[in-house]
Amino acid sequence: MPVKEIKKNPTQHNGTLTKGSQSEKRSGTKLAYIESYGCQMNFADSEVVASILSGDGYQITESLQEASLVLVNTCSIREKAEQTVRKRLEYFNSIKKNKTEMTVGVLGCMAERLKHQFLEEEKIVDLVVGPDAYKDIPNLLQEVAHDREAVNVLLSKEETYGDIAPIRLNSNGVSAFVSITRGCDNMCTFCVVPFTRGRERSRDPKSILEEIHDLAQKGYKEITLLGQNVDSYLWYGGGLKKDFVKASPLQQKTALRFENLLALVAEAQPKIRIRFSTSNPQDMSLEVLKVMQKYENICNYIHLPVQSGSNSILKKMNRQHTREEYMKLIDSIREIIPDCGISHDMIAGFPTETDQDHQDTLDLMDYVQYDFGFMFAYSERPGTLAARKIEDDVPETVKKKRLSQIIEKQQQHSRIRTQAFVGQTVCVLIEKESKRSNAHWSGRTTQNTVAVFPKKEFQIGDFVEVKITDCTSATLIGEASKISNRV
Ligand code: SAH
Ligand code: F3S
Repeated sequence: MPVKEIKKNPTQHNGTLTKGSQSEKRSGTKLAYIESYGCQMNFADSEVVASILSGDGYQITESLQEASLVLVNTCSIREKAEQTVRKRLEYFNSIKKNKTEMTVGVLGCMAERLKHQFLEEEKIVDLVVGPDAYKDIPNLLQEVAHDREAVNVLLSKEETYGDIAPIRLNSNGVSAFVSITRGCDNMCTFCVVPFTRGRERSRDPKSILEEIHDLAQKGYKEITLLGQNVDSYLWYGGGLKKDFVKASPLQQKTALRFENLLALVAEAQPKIRIRFSTSNPQDMSLEVLKVMQKYENICNYIHLPVQSGSNSILKKMNRQHTREEYMKLIDSIREIIPDCGISHDMIAGFPTETDQDHQDTLDLMDYVQYDFGFMFAYSERPGTLAARKIEDDVPETVKKKRLSQIIEKQQQHSRIRTQAFVGQTVCVLIEKESKRSNAHWSGRTTQNTVAVFPKKEFQIGDFVEVKITDCTSATLIGEASKISNRV
């Protein structure tokens, strides 16, 4: 039984792979294979890369063997994520030895972090491209063809890929991700993202609305607005978030914030479910909650990472809120959207964490009773402020023990949450066949809780009314009765 705590989440770094979906081989077409690891931003970026490659005459294939170009979109968030990618690169190289033509490229956060190292010291890749340089891939492939070094890891102040129509990979035709911001300015001391993905910038709302309109035309039923920190979305005509202070008075006055964007999207597409991820407690505002309350098609679900329940650890993490402020925000959520699903990210064993700090985390979890969470043992990342300034002094065994206590607590809370649905009738968007039975559909409620039920006459993409009769800690089990008027 897969536990909910490790299920896939829009911005969680979990090492799942994405393959291309169009394997049809046309003679004379160049074939590219893309594998993606890490957060959903990476998965969304791979769809941008697929589009850029298609403009360069490539077709995306699911078959590694038949591809002449193999790209791996990588994650640096924890050491384990990097180790996984290294193993894959070794495997690609073993295949390459027996092939006449095969180019291997590294994209994403590891490309940015390790830059020339892949080409120079390790010689296991031909191409290294950072998250802001994907438009340069066709030129870089020319460099590879001429046996020249092919690296572009320049970070950009403007690039949002707003002008690229992503080619959906591995899509169920129902749910899609739409990037709204890139980069992060927060500098949490444990986190490598600000170094690998650069400064925060927001995407032109016009291009966001166009992309969503296009998805709606194609029959998509749910979109997730993506960013490292969506609540700090700020459009004032382009440029970095940090440069907003230098914007003209008119730009400042007419700037579009996250709550405005959310309302625009919800209004433009009333029949589409809107989700967003990730929210940072420091930026999540009452205005956003009010917009969520106003529009039925904005899902009642917030992913609100806290990382620790201890004020002293939050400070050392450079999180810009206290435990009390976080709890107040939770109170506001519960007041404005009483049935809101809430999930978290938590790190066990941050340097200097004491038993009391850990207890504070467990107590905070008791206070919130999250629906589910993504929980990690602290992994020191080279170059981050924590790696440079704070000794990684919590023994691995203690980290693991604390992590398992956090996971155990979460499982108890998840069960309380799912149990509360038993007897209710909820609206579920059907996404796919249940993994455990081909006679059952699987979908999610507005709170992002998975529900499974017998298929009957219903189809993928239907919103259905489901009476919940049973549950596990991760999944609701029920019976669908009719097509829903709700979303
Ligand atoms: N704001 C981002 C966070 C990205 S990282 C978002 O969109 O989700 C995702 C999660 O990985 C973080 O919330 C944190 O809980 C975890 N994480 C980040 N760096 C880590 C590290 N060095 N060790 C362990 N977990 C880490
Ligand atoms: Fe990382 Fe903190 Fe940004 S976790 S992505 S630096 S909000």
